[in-house]
Amino acid sequence: MTRATPLADTMNDVDASHLVHGLQVSFQHLGMTYGTGTTALQDVDLSVRTGEMVAIVGPSGCGKSTLLRLAAGLERPSRGSVAVGTRSVGFIFQEPTLLPWASVRRNVALLGELARLPREVARGRVEDAILAVGLEDFADQLPRSLSGGMRMRVSLARALALEPQVMLLDEPFGALDEMTREEMQLQLLDLYERRRFTALFVTHSVSEAVLLADRVVVMSARPGRIRAVVDVDLPRPRGPELRFEASYVDQVKHISELLRGVR
Ligand SMILES: Nc1ncnc2c1ncn2[C@@H]1O[C@H](COP(=O)(O)OP(=O)(O)O)[C@@H](O)[C@H]1O
Ligand SMILES: [Mg+2]
Repeated sequence: MTRATPLADTMNDVDASHLVHGLQVSFQHLGMTYGTGTTALQDVDLSVRTGEMVAIVGPSGCGKSTLLRLAAGLERPSRGSVAVGTRSVGFIFQEPTLLPWASVRRNVALLGELARLPREVARGRVEDAILAVGLEDFADQLPRSLSGGMRMRVSLARALALEPQVMLLDEPFGALDEMTREEMQLQLLDLYERRRFTALFVTHSVSEAVLLADRVVVMSARPGRIRAVVDVDLPRPRGPELRFEASYVDQVKHISELLRGVR
């Protein structure tokens, strides 16, 4: 199944022609040098399997956002290639960009491509997405009456309403307080269990990366290169109790040490 998304309209040469079976996103020998001369990424090789959640950690400025924008087709690579096996892509940014004058429901519904669906189908998608993030009691409220965590849920619901096959999440919980952040992590785990989208998840938090991901990619300081890819060896479904388990703590420690080595 493929469906147009707002990103799809800008998705120039993000093609899928050399994706082998079972892969959903693939970067090959990828390099990105901006017009300013800044080389953000160098020689990035990474393939993400269909339904896999991959977390990306690395120092500030190492090209994590650039990598997601390349996957979304919002930038063109300077070198190498990006392949994405679907045009059904949702992008969640760190700051939820909500329309202040529109209700939660309208914010979720306002995506252009939902308008291309039959009205009843679109409406069902919107209500499902609002339910999925637990905002059903707030659907008629304006964003300003919501907490930061709830605004992020609206943003998540908006992406979910597209039922994307690929989710690109750029430090989505970075601006949230600790408790809200933990709540959102569990919510995302729950959504992932139910929908099994493919995800590229950028985060500053190693513990978040280990909790959520199947693999954690550790990037070096600029120009960003992949320094390590660590398989997270923890069963799913995962819950909050994981944080106290030795295997979880060990993996957080291991990745934190790798990350310290690249700074
Ligand atoms: N549009 C742009 N034009 C020029 N330089 C950019 C642009 N976007 C990002 N950069 C530079 O590329 C590098 C990587 O940026 P970014 O991908 O945002 O890193 P991260 O998300 O890991 O913090 C940084 O040095 C940043 O200043
Ligand atoms: Mg960034």
